[in-house]
Parts: sequence; C-alpha cells; structure tokens
Amino acid sequence: MRSLEWNSENKSLRAIDQRLIPAQLAYVDLGDVAAVAEAIRTMVVRGAPAIGVAAGYGVALAAWETKLSDINAYKEKVFQAISDLRQSRPTAINLTFALDRMGKVLEDEKLSTDQLRIRLEEEAIKIDQENTADCFAISQYGAELIQDGDTIIHHCNTGGLATVEWGTALGAIHMAYQQGKRIHVLVDETRPRLQGARITAWELQQFGIPFDIITDNSAGYFLSKGKVDKVFFGADRVARNGDVANKVGTYMLALAAFHNKVPVYSIFPISSVDFQLPDGEAIPIEERDPLEVLDIQQHGEPVVPHGSTALNPAFDVTPHELITGWVTEKGMINPPFEQNISKITSLSRS
Ligand code: MRU
Repeated sequence: MRSLEWNSENKSLRAIDQRLIPAQLAYVDLGDVAAVAEAIRTMVVRGAPAIGVAAGYGVALAAWETKLSDINAYKEKVFQAISDLRQSRPTAINLTFALDRMGKVLEDEKLSTDQLRIRLEEEAIKIDQENTADCFAISQYGAELIQDGDTIIHHCNTGGLATVEWGTALGAIHMAYQQGKRIHVLVDETRPRLQGARITAWELQQFGIPFDIITDNSAGYFLSKGKVDKVFFGADRVARNGDVANKVGTYMLALAAFHNKVPVYSIFPISSVDFQLPDGEAIPIEERDPLEVLDIQQHGEPVVPHGSTALNPAFDVTPHELITGWVTEKGMINPPFEQNISKITSLSRS
C-alpha cells in the first residue's frame, strides 16, 4: 500500500486521506496543484518525506495543466506553482528539497515547454523512487539496532503513510519484526492530532506488531521504571550540528530518556538535513490552529471553558546532546554529527 499514487496516463495524483485513519481507508484524487497544496496544508498528506514527494507531483501537475506555449510565460506560471507549494507547510525541509530539484529542471534553458512537461514528471517520479529506496535502506539499518525482546517508545507517525511506502522509524520496527524479533511498541498518542494513537497504532495493527498506546505525558513514567529499551522518532528538519526538529513532544521525550540513560535514535533520510543551518535555533516552527488543541473531541462536547485560548506549535527542537545516533539511508551516524555527516556527503560527491 502506498500513501501516494501517481497516474501517468491521466496525470493525476491519488492520496490516502490520513485525517480519516483509522475510521476509514479512503482515497482522494488531487487533480491540480492547488489541490496538492491544500492537501499538504490540511494534513490529508503528512509526514516529511510524503510531503516532499507530494510537492514534486504537485509541480508535475502544474507542468501539465499549464497550456501556455510561450516559454517564459510557461516558466513563470510553473515557478508560481512552486512558490505556492513552498508556503503549504514551513517546517519539513523535504518540501524545500523536492521543490528545489523541480525548480532546477525548470531552469534548464535547452528544453521546450513540451520537453519540460515530460522532464518535470520524470523528476517527480525519480524523487518518489529515491525516497522509497532510501526509506527501505533506513529500515534495514534501523532494524539492526533492535534486539529481540525490545520495548520501544515511538513518537508521532513515521510509517508508510508518512513516507509513501516504507517508513523510517516505524519501518525499522516493521523490518525487525519481519526478521523474527519480538518487539513491544509504546505508542505515544501524539497530541493534538493523534498521529500516534490513530495512524501508528493502525499501521502496527496491520503488521501484527504488539503495542500499547500511552499518553504523551506518561512516557517519563515508563522510562523511569526501566520498562523501555530505546526511543525512536523521525525528523522534519535536522541542523548540521544534529539538532532535530520533529513533532512537538519529541524534546520532552528525549529529555526524559536521556535522564534515564535510554538511547534515543532519530531516523530519517539525508534529505531531511538542512545543510544551511548550523543549529536548530533558526528552524521555522509551524504554529497551527488553536482549535486543534481546544476541540479535543473534534466537534464533540467542549471540555475546555468557553472562551479559552491555546498555543499550538506543531514541532519542537531536540538538542543534539540528547540524541544517541541518527539512522539514515547511508547507515548509522554517531556524534559528532556535523563531522560525521560531512564525511558521508563528501564521499558521495566524490
Ligand atoms: O505534522 P506531521 O504529522 O506532518 O508531523 C510528522 C512528524 O513530525 C514526523 O515524525 C516526521 O515528519 C517524520 S515522518 C517519517
């Protein structure tokens, strides 16, 4: 099952509506670039790698739907689509990574409008395929960390729905389980959008992996009782020094794990690293609608006093000192992160 499916014949994108999991497994057709940007903004499509892949296809849609024959007018229109997609969600760097790649193709001065349409679609498919291959490799490396009998706390959702096909942190758990390792997952519910309780629990159930859902604020309790072997989560944007922006609550979880000497792994593709940023200070943190916090039952009986206000940062930054290691498609990367990642990226450039 893939969370995003490109149809080359009709030039359309189909997505699983992640807002409806677990009540329904429903698909929506995203017929134009505006629909893709809206799907990212409203979290029909969510999870950093899936957002990047969807944005690539969004540009491919814009390339096909723009009928202008004048090359400059054509490019201007498609660049406008890239810029609209850039505004859809601010934190996941995978969005920028995919849009920059699409923008580079569009800059090619040798290509006609007809050639650009084909090349842009090809590039979007390539981003999708590379992402799938990277997540598979990440899952293999991540599975090596898992011992038979481990209990793992997992935050947010990092499974196939968040990454298109193989997950990252959840992919590693899935892979280790397929290898015959016994695993128990403590699933952080992940307030306020409940990506853990709704989506991670649903994915684990599909795989038959044993789990219990825990409230985010009980993670410290389980860690302090010696009931947890490892903490796993993904990343939305990683700074060069190893600071990781991920779903809000990750920082508190990592702090509690560090205090209890439980290893903490952030598991992500190298496309999640923002090499421009020396540390996590400047990572843009998305502020979402306070209603996500206030309307806990989603249109049910109000549980908060009428007129209450709320603050709703969607992500937080975990300082690199709290992180034991990264797991990427190039393998495990240990601290000092900046030094070790630059060895790997310079190797792959040479
Ligand atoms: O707001 P979301 O649901 O898009 O946030 C998702 C996360 O924080 C994930 O942990 C991260 O994107 C990694 S997904 C492999």
